[in-house]
Order: sequence, then structure tokens, then C-alpha cells
Amino acid sequence: MRSKSSGNNLQQVVNGKLFQTIGRVAAEQQVEAYAIGGFVRDAILGRPCKDIDFVVTGRGIEIAQLVAAELKVKRVNVFKNFGTAMFNYGDTEIEFVGARKESYQRDSRKPIVEDGTLEDDQNRRDFTINALAISLNKDSYGQLVDPFGGTAHLEEGLIKTPLDPHITFSDDPLRMLRAVRFASQLGFTISDEALESITANADRLKIISAERIATELNKIILSPKPSVGFKLLFDTGLLHQFFPEMVALQGVETKNGFAHKDNFYHTLEVLDNISVHTNDLWLRWSAILHDIAKPPTKRFEPGTGWTFHGHEDRGARMVPEIFRRLKLPLDQKMKYVQKLVALHLRPIALTKEEITDSAIRRLLFDAGEDLEDLLTLCQADITSKNPHKVKRYLENYEKVKIKIAEVEEKDKIRNWQPPVSGEEIMEHFNLKPCKEVGLIKNAIKDAILDGDIENTREAAVQLMMEKAVELGLAPQV
Ligand code: CTP
Repeated sequence: MRSKSSGNNLQQVVNGKLFQTIGRVAAEQQVEAYAIGGFVRDAILGRPCKDIDFVVTGRGIEIAQLVAAELKVKRVNVFKNFGTAMFNYGDTEIEFVGARKESYQRDSRKPIVEDGTLEDDQNRRDFTINALAISLNKDSYGQLVDPFGGTAHLEEGLIKTPLDPHITFSDDPLRMLRAVRFASQLGFTISDEALESITANADRLKIISAERIATELNKIILSPKPSVGFKLLFDTGLLHQFFPEMVALQGVETKNGFAHKDNFYHTLEVLDNISVHTNDLWLRWSAILHDIAKPPTKRFEPGTGWTFHGHEDRGARMVPEIFRRLKLPLDQKMKYVQKLVALHLRPIALTKEEITDSAIRRLLFDAGEDLEDLLTLCQADITSKNPHKVKRYLENYEKVKIKIAEVEEKDKIRNWQPPVSGEEIMEHFNLKPCKEVGLIKNAIKDAILDGDIENTREAAVQLMMEKAVELGLAPQV
């Protein structure tokens, strides 16, 4: 049985000023008005909801303007083509739409064709749980209008389409992805007929824009246990339409008695593990992509077995292309994911060898402020089924963490920049940007990180002069 704890809450909203005003204006204008969709669903489930959709039987824009005037809201955004109007009321976003005979999609570019009744409108929505409406009309004020058993499906945890799924999904193929998103987000089951229809029509997702796909995909990634969504995406063939690199992770190959693990299911375990510790979308993305280059780097070495040499670097290089195609941001967030993918083996390597100060300093320098996130990723990457191994790995990480704290306290390497900059080197030897500048700069950085010279300006300048002599450079006089 699912919680209906919000019952009172919903009652409060229904009796509040906003709903009362809409009911009154609609009555004066002789149209019917209903709250509908996600708000009703979330209110029954007791989930917070920051936007409320209202459907009116005709003149949606005009009614929105009249309601806004009554509520002393100044700014109303009108989208004439789509017959919708929006305004903010407190911290809630209110949207009005005229009831439609056509399929309802918030971000559709298709203009509305003709006004419909509430029933028409409910018929063309995606799922029974999203087609619930609350009447704001005088004779039935506050009553739920539930023609498809949406409330029972909320109780059961069932995702079902109001019409034949083929019709609902061909109205808008993105809904196939939305079905998976709601299943993952709410822990619901998709009905057998809907699931069959999705599997049969998965390739129709190809006509949907990458932006709309990304919005749903990110919601799946942010759900409490994202593997639920990804397994559905894989089993229905939806994932194959937009994320072939992830599909390629699936499968186990055996040769001469050597088998490697299934990297798809391993990745999902890592993603679920990290999701216990973070709600940060981009840290979760780094879990999805940490092994993405295992298929293209896979080799079989006789006597050794399967290797994936360099998959961390190759994976980091694959990130921009994947982000570009999926229309994910190409800014600092992408760089952050790239960095974590590139560095994801470094802390593990540290746990296996004698931990030197120099290796820790290098990790601090390379990971900078993202070191904690990198360690969270690495800990999530422990998916061994052997409890002794897991215990040993985790203990080793604790040792690494202690060591990091010690070195950090002593050397302050995090967010550190070498004491002599590239510009200074150029100025000193009257150089334009060139290979020599990089060589000197790196020599100084390496010497400090390896502990060969002190982390002071004096020592750095001295090394700069020595290196310059080696390279045959004369200082500027
Ligand atoms: N809807 C639909 N088909 C779509 C998108 C939306 O039928 N492709 C309808 C559903 O009735 C949905 C409502 O429009 O409840 C609002 O859509 P949207 O705001 O995108 O989603 P929500 O269901 O509100 O869910 P969330 O707020 O979690 O995104």
C-alpha cells in the first residue's frame, strides 16, 4: 500500500485561495476548470511539486489572465500558438491550457488544433496516473475525475497508458522513455502491454530531439536506484537508440578459460552504489562513464587474460563526443566528468603499492578540489562479491585518506600552482610560447611534487635557471 499522507495537504491546496479563485473565474466565464496531471499525481503520492497545470474547456489564455489579475500577479507569459499561459504564484509555476483533442505535450512544437472536453484531454495524456484531474467546478468542487483507474494504479504502482499503448506512444514516442523514467523514479512497474509496445516501437525514439531525451535520461539517473531505469532501457531496446557506447559494455567473453566481467551490469552497480552517497548528477554521470572505453580497449593477452589498458584515458577522450551528441553541457561539468573518468584508477593504484608522499602529492595536484568526489567514485567502484576483499579494499582506502590528510596538511598541494608561472619564464628569457617554456614549467612542477626541491619560490627560480642553461637559453638583461 502506498502512502496517501498528503491527503490533508491536497485538501488544503484545494481549499486555498488559488484554487478557489480559479473556480470562481471559470464559473463567471462559463467554462469548466480542473487541476490536472503531475500535480494531482504527486499530491496523492505525497511528493513535493512546484508546478500546477490547469485545464479549462476553452479560452485558456484569457482565463489565465483573468485569474492572474484577481491574484494581483502582474506578469503572465502567453504562448498563443499553443493556447497556453503561465505565471508564477509565490514559488509555484502555474500553467493554463485549453482542453485538447490532440495529444498533450508540454514541450511540443505542434500548435493546438481544436478545443476539446476534459475527457478528450485526459484520453490524450501519457499515463493513467498522469491523467487524474481535480474539479474546480461548483457542483463537483474538489472531486477527483479518474476515468482510467489512475488512483488504483498509484496504489498498485503501475504505469499504464489510458488508450492502446501503440496510440499513446505514437502520439509522442518520448513517452516510452517517460514510462521508464516514472518506473525508476517512483519504483513502479510498467504494464505488460505498455512494455511490449515499447519493445516493439523502441526505434521510433529516433525522431525525438536529443534535448528531450536528455531531460528524461537525467531524471532516470537522479532516481533513487537508477539501475532500475537502465535495465528497462536496455531490455526494451530504448538505450540502443541514443547510447550505443553504454550498450557495448554489455556481455561477457570467454577465451582459454578466461572470462571478464559484464561491464554493463558492473557499471550499473557502481551507479547504484554512488547514488547512495550523492545526488549530484555529474558525479553520477562519472560513474556511468568510468569504464565506457573498456570495449574499444579490450585485448586478450595469452597467459594473462583480458586487459583494458588505457581505458581511463580513452574514456576521458570519449566524454566530449558523448556529451555533444546527448546535448549535455559542454562546460565545466563536462570537464569535471572527464577528469574523474581519467583519474578513476589512480586511488586504486595507490592502495596496491607502498604509498609515497610524492604519489599523494600528484593525486592532490591532479584531482584538486574534486579529490573527495574521486574517492567517492572509487569506493563505489568496489563491486566484488567477496566480503573479505571488499573489507580489505575499504581499509586500504581509509589508509589512503589518512595519508592524503597528512600530506595535505604538510604541503598544501590542493589547488596549488607552481611558484613560477609560464608568463614569468617567457619574460625572463624573452620567449614567445614554445616547447622550452613547457619543459621548464613541468620540470619545476615535477621536482616539487616529487620532493626533489622545496616548495618555495627561491628553489623554483634556481631550478628554472639550471634548466635554462641545460636548454641553452640566455636570461633577458
Ligand atoms: N504529458 C503527456 N505527454 C508528454 C508529456 C506530458 O501526456 N509527453 C502530460 C502528462 O499528463 C503530465 C503533464 O503533461 O503529467 C505534465 O507534464 P510534465 O510537466 O512534463 O511532467 P510531469 O508529469 O509533471 O512530471 P515531472 O514534473 O516529474 O516532470
